[in-house]
Amino acid sequence: MVRGGRPLRGTVTVSGAKNAAVALLPATILARDACVVDNLPEIQDVLLLRDILSRMGAKVEYVPEERRMTVDTSADMTTGATFGLVRRMRASYYLLGALLARYGHAQIALPGGCDIGQRPIDQHLKGLRALGAEVETEHGILKAKTDGLRGAEVYLDVASVGATVNIMLASVHAEGLTTIVNAAKEPHVVDLANFLNCMGASVKGAGTDVIRVRGKKDLHGTSYTIIPDQIEAGTLMIAAAATRGDVVIQNVISTHLESISAKLIEMGVHVDQGYDHVRVYSDKRPRHVTIKTLPYPGFPTDIQQPISALLCTAEGTSVIIESIFEDRFKQVAEFCRMGARVSVDNRVAVIEGVEKLTGAPVTASDLRAGAALIVAGLMAEGETYIKNVKFIDRGYERIEDKLISLGASIERIEVEDEYGMYE
Ligand code: EPU
Repeated sequence: MVRGGRPLRGTVTVSGAKNAAVALLPATILARDACVVDNLPEIQDVLLLRDILSRMGAKVEYVPEERRMTVDTSADMTTGATFGLVRRMRASYYLLGALLARYGHAQIALPGGCDIGQRPIDQHLKGLRALGAEVETEHGILKAKTDGLRGAEVYLDVASVGATVNIMLASVHAEGLTTIVNAAKEPHVVDLANFLNCMGASVKGAGTDVIRVRGKKDLHGTSYTIIPDQIEAGTLMIAAAATRGDVVIQNVISTHLESISAKLIEMGVHVDQGYDHVRVYSDKRPRHVTIKTLPYPGFPTDIQQPISALLCTAEGTSVIIESIFEDRFKQVAEFCRMGARVSVDNRVAVIEGVEKLTGAPVTASDLRAGAALIVAGLMAEGETYIKNVKFIDRGYERIEDKLISLGASIERIEVEDEYGMYE
């Protein structure tokens, strides 16, 4: 339950990046001894990967208070991951690339994750096949095997984060050189490359369109601190602007936030970027803007949903073009319950700014839609009840505690009988 209308003020620290964490943890399978991963966010996806890796035979020690997980995969692991756990997250398919590299075979249930479009995995499979794997889908299980992976050139039809990561993981032990052309350039792709290089791999060019991996047989364990979460930082920046507050967000990499800062500045919000922090403040209604989501360094699709909440109360009419996922506007119907004026046609949302939103019972359909509803609730007059906060817990570490520390009124409530609130 969010009671809106309070400006956020103070200082808050961003946690480690979810989408880096979910790539690095499967990558530990590639090391011959223990890896220590620091700055891990305490979120559901990390807890799921801990459970999946443990059940597969890894020795996992997790100290949430220290944000640290030690994963030792030196003993032989099972090469099939539990259906029920894998289905609950997207990044479980990274286990396929990592297990294939280490054992030459793997069986993983088709992944779950946020319902934001079809999310095909053809580019992952194309890449793994180019490296010499046979991959099939049977009864909802992805089955892959190889008699030895060999480096190859893989051109991605779309600059897919997931395919880039999976092919990188599979190729680190492959014989010879693998070149990924039209690779994704997101910060978490670079973080994974740095992690693999710390393990002794040879990955070059991450952060550009072309990544080259020279296969090496033996990788060792390492200690590594993952990057701060770009999307959590962006969400907090938007929340600060939405409540006309003044917030210093610490533990950020400013360059990762450039597209988000640029749009907020265009809206009339003040953004001061420091070395490892950003201050966001505003005392007036934002101006309307046009936003098109793009692969990094363009405007992130993961921030499209939170910023769409802010645009509901901007002056004038804003337009958002969602070019990455075909069904990522589910938050809009919920905004309309709160008095927003938004229409969606396919991948385009037209948002006619209103003076204010009013609190209402709403439902989160996915992770970032949930974050968007929190932003809407913080701006709205009265109380907003957000159902399905489990989605938010998948990717934001104790978001309510962070917002409360900034002066928000937000409570997690258990509702036994939802009748009356939602029906
Ligand atoms: N695509 C294909 N074929 C493929 C793979 C992707 O057509 O084989 C398409 C997708 O349908 C989409 C586009 O390519 O239209 C980009 O998808 P991408 O593979 O880059 O996305 P992803 O790997 O499934 C990751 C993040 C998402 C984030 C996107 C885009 C993780 C675990 N997930 O997803 O994060 O939105 O990249 O940046 O890294 C989130 O955190 O809320 C989230 C959904």
